[in-house]
Amino acid sequence: MSTSSTEHWSFPRAELLPTYAFVASDAVKAEVRASGADIIDLGLGNPDRPTPRQIVEQLQQASTIGENHRYHPGRGLFRLREAVCGWYQRRYSASFDPNRQVMVTMGAKDGMTGLCLAMLAAGDTVLAPDPCYPIHRGAPLIAGAEVLTYSSTADEPAEAIQHALTRAERAGKAVKLVIANYPQNPTGRTITREQLKALCKVVQQSGAFLLHDLAYADLDFNQRFAPSIFDCGLPANQVEAFAVEVFSMSKSYHMPGWRIAYMVGNERMISALAHLKTYTDYGTFIPVQHAAAWALDNGDELAYEIRELYRGRAEALVQGLTHAGWENVAAPSGTMFLWVPIPPAYAGLSSSEATARLIREAHVAVSPGSGFGPGGEGFVRFALIEDPPRIEEACRRIARLFKRAA
Ligand SMILES: Cc1ncc(COP(=O)(O)O)c(C=O)c1O
Repeated sequence: MSTSSTEHWSFPRAELLPTYAFVASDAVKAEVRASGADIIDLGLGNPDRPTPRQIVEQLQQASTIGENHRYHPGRGLFRLREAVCGWYQRRYSASFDPNRQVMVTMGAKDGMTGLCLAMLAAGDTVLAPDPCYPIHRGAPLIAGAEVLTYSSTADEPAEAIQHALTRAERAGKAVKLVIANYPQNPTGRTITREQLKALCKVVQQSGAFLLHDLAYADLDFNQRFAPSIFDCGLPANQVEAFAVEVFSMSKSYHMPGWRIAYMVGNERMISALAHLKTYTDYGTFIPVQHAAAWALDNGDELAYEIRELYRGRAEALVQGLTHAGWENVAAPSGTMFLWVPIPPAYAGLSSSEATARLIREAHVAVSPGSGFGPGGEGFVRFALIEDPPRIEEACRRIARLFKRAA
């Protein structure tokens, strides 16, 4: 009988990726829950409310039609791609060709990963934010590229990117793709139109491509819509020459489990992604696409209510933590997160140690900052996925913990 073993084989991509930010504290949560404790879990940014009824009804209607149960290869339902173009026209006065410049994806994560796989390989260099939403670093890594970073906590994003580009050039590396994300996860930072224009100019002049993640388009608390790279003050046709933008239905319309998003802009990038996807999938379930099209055409008011929901929760959490004695709590200017330094009660601990202690001692779960990259060390992230009464309860628990530690 053969005794050969497979153990000597490595799985290079899986082994290259650090443990996902939200998985790291799962074991501690499970242990505390096993003792019967009720944990207020503000870790994963998983929207808690159901999708608005009107959108679900569109799905229900479309799902009764047998034709809609088939594979749907290609760039997405034409009706949805037209709705995407309408969304950009209405909000940002930007026009796109639905046949050549729009691609529907199974969530933003899927779109960004597919784009990186289509564009990148070993030997390519990518610039990603640090700290960042894990896929911004993960997608280029999965594609085999090298990832360099720029600070996403710098006050001037364009300068931070310029510094990183200069550092890369000095090291003899040409950056092929820059990834940016505003409003930003995990820091809750937003960008002004002028700052976004400066960012686009820096990338344009460098000769790199740009991937901008606009998942929080509706969650900018300073203005109704967060700025788009296609409405930043540079002519849109210049931006289209090197950039794409991603938007997700997950946050603006409470549709995280539906897995639907889209990418818009540079024809070559969109067509590379579409080509890759002819191999990897057959498109999102058609009724989901119909419902998404309806939401984009008719859902501005729904998205506005969702934004106000998160804004209210952010206010409640900032107030509650400050009242509890948590120092340096600054209100986020956007997103569904609060990013705060580790409190003095946990001084000297790493962000994962502080997270574990918070779960054990206050029964409140957050995400450790280090899960978003080395630049996140020293911070933790609260996701605003509970209503104010539960947020206030979390803050009372933290206040009691601080008192005991004092
Ligand atoms: C910046 C950012 N982009 C994309 C996503 C995920 O989008 P999707 O659900 O469409 O994959 C998230 C989710 O937290 C996010 O924070």
